[in-house]
Amino acid sequence: KRVAILISGGGSNMLALVNSMTGDHPARPVLVASNDPEASGLRRAEAMGIATAAVDHRRFGKDRAGFEAELLRHILAARPDILCLAGFMRVLTAGFVAQFEGRMLNIHPSLLPKYPGLHTHQRALDAGDTQAGCTVHEVTAVLDDGPLLGQAQVPVLPGDTADSLAARVLVQEHRLYPAVLRRYAAGDRTPILLP
Ligand code: GRF
Repeated sequence: KRVAILISGGGSNMLALVNSMTGDHPARPVLVASNDPEASGLRRAEAMGIATAAVDHRRFGKDRAGFEAELLRHILAARPDILCLAGFMRVLTAGFVAQFEGRMLNIHPSLLPKYPGLHTHQRALDAGDTQAGCTVHEVTAVLDDGPLLGQAQVPVLPGDTADSLAARVLVQEHRLYPAVLRRYAAGDRTPILLP
């Protein structure tokens, strides 16, 4: 299976996914693309010999469709079977999502359906939650919704800040996303809960 990965920043999740696609893994990375030409994850992908593309969403102002049309051109040129959003921070229109229905994944730093959207860790702290974590789900037209494919939980510890909790969750993201992708690329969509 050919996997394209969309990033917006450092791409630590992209790196975890790329590093997992070796040996008998049913998938290989064919493109890393970003909405930010300065995303350092693009440099990391290039250093690993992976094709990259960048479409600066700021060039398009409010023309979301125009941005997505150019991004789609780069993505389709790579002929991916699966699209992984990994720290990708742009909301995609239903039109874009429809082209990858049933073959697009996203990782979100909360235990969905709790805390869709942004600032998930601060919201968990404010709510006094004792558990937090991350979710991999199939992407549908509804933001941070869609069938769950995997979750990993972490404890919220006394004195946690949004940053300390984010760091603990990020470690689990790097375990969960590769575990889900390996199954998903083999056609297995059974949700997994990482211990
Ligand atoms: C992190 O906040 C992570 O929780 C979320 O996207 C952000 C950046 O991830 N998934 P990455 O390091 O660019 O993969």
